[in-house]
Amino acid sequence: MTKASTHGDASNHVLGPLEDLVDGESRAFEEIGEYGIVVCNVQGEIYALEDNCSHADTPLSEGQLRGWHITCPLHGASFDIRDGSHGGPPAWEGVPCYKVARVDGEVVVSLEAPHSTDDVSNGLGGVDGMFETR
Ligand code: FES
Repeated sequence: MTKASTHGDASNHVLGPLEDLVDGESRAFEEIGEYGIVVCNVQGEIYALEDNCSHADTPLSEGQLRGWHITCPLHGASFDIRDGSHGGPPAWEGVPCYKVARVDGEVVVSLEAPHSTDDVSNGLGGVDGMFETR
């Protein structure tokens, strides 16, 4: 876990320069948002997703980052870090994907208006389409 501070309004979080987050690595910021966020560096670009698998409520930061995809450690669902979309079952919807910017050399993540390209829930698997395990 890494500490972050807010910037401007409460929805913006300064993560620091993240110069030590190298290409192909991810890092959890557990104190941001309801479930924390997972921040990934792929080819020098920084991406941020909610750190919570849409299938059964598991931290994606404990999974594997390969290319543009992060795989859930529990049942193997894959999510595209560029837009939060899922790659197929057992997940049936994506995860929130957050805007990332560099401000004065520091990475800032905005939790306002997250997006996902496939956030349609079919209602399977429990309340609001998600199993609660943590
Ligand atoms: S909890 Fe992530 S795939 Fe099942």
